[in-house]
Amino acid sequence: MKYHIKDVKLAKKGRLRIEWANEYMPVLTLIRKRFTKEKPLKNTRIAACLHVTTETANLAITLKAGGADVTLCASNPLSTQDDVAACLVKDYKIPVFAIKGEDNKTYYRHISNTLDQRPNITMDDGADLVSTIHKKRRNLIRDILGGTEETTTGVIRLRALQEKGKLLFPLIAVNDANTKHLFDNRYGTGQSTVDGIMRSTNILMAGCVFVVCGYGWCGRGVANRARGMGANVTICETDPLKALEAIMDGYSVMSLKEASRKGDVFVTLTGDISVLRKEHFMLMKDGAIICNSGHFNVEIDLRALGEMSKKKRRVREFVEEYTLKGSKRINVLGEGRLINLAAAEGHPASVMDMSFANQAMACEYIKKNGGRLENKVYKVPEDIDREIAGLKLKSLGVKIDRLTDKQKIYLTSWESGT
Ligand code: ADE
Repeated sequence: MKYHIKDVKLAKKGRLRIEWANEYMPVLTLIRKRFTKEKPLKNTRIAACLHVTTETANLAITLKAGGADVTLCASNPLSTQDDVAACLVKDYKIPVFAIKGEDNKTYYRHISNTLDQRPNITMDDGADLVSTIHKKRRNLIRDILGGTEETTTGVIRLRALQEKGKLLFPLIAVNDANTKHLFDNRYGTGQSTVDGIMRSTNILMAGCVFVVCGYGWCGRGVANRARGMGANVTICETDPLKALEAIMDGYSVMSLKEASRKGDVFVTLTGDISVLRKEHFMLMKDGAIICNSGHFNVEIDLRALGEMSKKKRRVREFVEEYTLKGSKRINVLGEGRLINLAAAEGHPASVMDMSFANQAMACEYIKKNGGRLENKVYKVPEDIDREIAGLKLKSLGVKIDRLTDKQKIYLTSWESGT
């Protein structure tokens, strides 16, 4: 078996951590039990490009239990948990190509190693597998039934391919399932981003001016959690509707230029490039902390910051201090990569439980229906989304009410008014 990881001797630590996460993934556990019996993914090669975390390990183990041959590579050079990679290779015989801190060349070589297994299903977090296949490995397409995409940024890239009429196989946008983005993006990113900022800096959140760029589901989550810890939260947006929502949610909203003068901490979660750039760095306070929790490391213009600086030094793990030509310092966390996965452990397992239940069931769906799907971006079927919500509630021991027959009829009729 070919693989490329940091050190297989880390497997024991990885195993304990994977088992710990599994305790918080009851829905995925139920799916794994069913997959073990039914083997719905027999004779299916799955190439997965995901953050190599304890939660992803439990997904990979589930897919393997369902009969799949799984190969895994990282979806970000800084997010790999090396002990997890070691355990998957040693204890589960799942080939992994991922090392925390790998350079860009190695990152793409690992993607290529993963694609060498000629997948029937692709599983992406950010669409790097799909884009590599479309750019360089089109010979693989004849074996591909379809693929899944985990994140907002990836779905945006896939929809761009579809709009241009260039999408070459069907994809399921796992991100768009309600049981994914309403929980993972909001509560997962919310908690893990604040966690990453605190682990890397140990700053006091209470009383700090905390600027959130982007008020999508991820931005909302971060803003809410930062407020919960006593920060004064400011939202910067380009979409008038989201800006209005932020105002009525009780935040102060202003332009990023105005916020640049006031902020102690800045987080980008927009999915777009050069959100924090020269014009903002110039206005920031001495000691400002900037980081990104969007998928790619393009949201902070680090090149411009480098050009404006006379010195750069590492002052703590995951903190680079840039000294500008005056003498002002700006601290960049996690090299501008996803701070929640670079400096913390990513989203907690309880929330990844639902995201990865969607992934596992979407794979099963592709295997069953792949031949009938068009080269389009599909939603996760609604019955799967609802089933996952139901199972999660059950695992929490929560019972909810059912509509009576009279109520059901009322909801499908138009005749009765006041
Ligand atoms: N994305 C965010 N958090 C994650 C986690 N814990 N595992 C896999 N992907 C993630």
